[in-house]
Amino acid sequence: MTAETEARVERRAALGVRDRWWCIGPSSLVGSQAVGLTRLGIKLAAWRDKTGKVNMVEDYCPHRGAPLSMGHLTDGRLGCRYHGVEVAGDGSVAAVPGFPECSYVGRKMVRSYPVVEHFQGLWAWFGANDQLESAIEPPPLVFPSEFTSPEWTGFPISQTWQTNYQYVWDNVIDIMHPEYLHKDTQYFETGVANTVVATPAPTGFMVRRKIYEGDNVEIMEFIDNGSFWFRVGFYAPPGCGPGGNWRVFPLATPIDEYHCQMTVWRMRNVSGWEGDLFRFMFNTKLEQYNWAIVQEDKEMLEAMPPWPARENLYQHDIGPARLRKHVRDEARKQCA
Ligand code: FES
Ligand SMILES: [Fe+2]
Repeated sequence: MTAETEARVERRAALGVRDRWWCIGPSSLVGSQAVGLTRLGIKLAAWRDKTGKVNMVEDYCPHRGAPLSMGHLTDGRLGCRYHGVEVAGDGSVAAVPGFPECSYVGRKMVRSYPVVEHFQGLWAWFGANDQLESAIEPPPLVFPSEFTSPEWTGFPISQTWQTNYQYVWDNVIDIMHPEYLHKDTQYFETGVANTVVATPAPTGFMVRRKIYEGDNVEIMEFIDNGSFWFRVGFYAPPGCGPGGNWRVFPLATPIDEYHCQMTVWRMRNVSGWEGDLFRFMFNTKLEQYNWAIVQEDKEMLEAMPPWPARENLYQHDIGPARLRKHVRDEARKQCA
């Protein structure tokens, strides 16, 4: 592989592998006004149409390049603020009000990104090529079982972090960091010698500590099933109410090389009145507890050097090492 290809692979890795569904944030991100956002280094405009469906297109007017997100909505179409050209959710020009006979009307001229909304979150399909259409038809978005089972209740929390998302991915598959970084919030004993074991899972892999005693982490898993997921299970002290261990899905999506959007689902195995209780407790106290843990990660990861750091890995880093290899293998397929 040439140095030039290798540089392209690293850049693709730094901005996110394509041909995947990526979580772009919680449902509340997009309302009835157009909003501009950047994901995977791409400037995007998103809005809800009259039915509430979320549309997302490149934030680039086909006329002369003005940001469509500065525009206004008319009957679910996004009108450019500069000269009024209207774009539909599929990226076609719906109207040129000032010049109705314009031949652009009816033509797809802006890239559109299919969006799926589920469990208070939004996912968009990012195809590998940069043409008007994705080269492949997006496969169905497959959710982890907790996202579709009525036995689970959960909420997303979301925040922009000033760090490359790869630091976050390393962090959420790094089973040896909680006992140091989260010592005070997650009740760990520190200083216990241990090793990390990685085992393959159907569409990813899991890590665990070889010595289990005192382990507050129940599950740590990476999944690539057409979308990227991290499943982390950890001990919930009695004050957290019903539902057993926390099951957390921390999803970090690149904004650009230096920022990412962190959307974290906090879940418990509760339904019915227990689900209501969990919802109430989450709003009144548990959300703060969860933020306290997440802020410890945020503070550390925002203090890291610009990606990539100068490193000397050791045995405990097999999770991040495996993850980075997977990302580069996938990026290489898209940069050949
Ligand atoms: S740049 Fe958008 S209508 Fe002219
Ligand atoms: Fe952490």
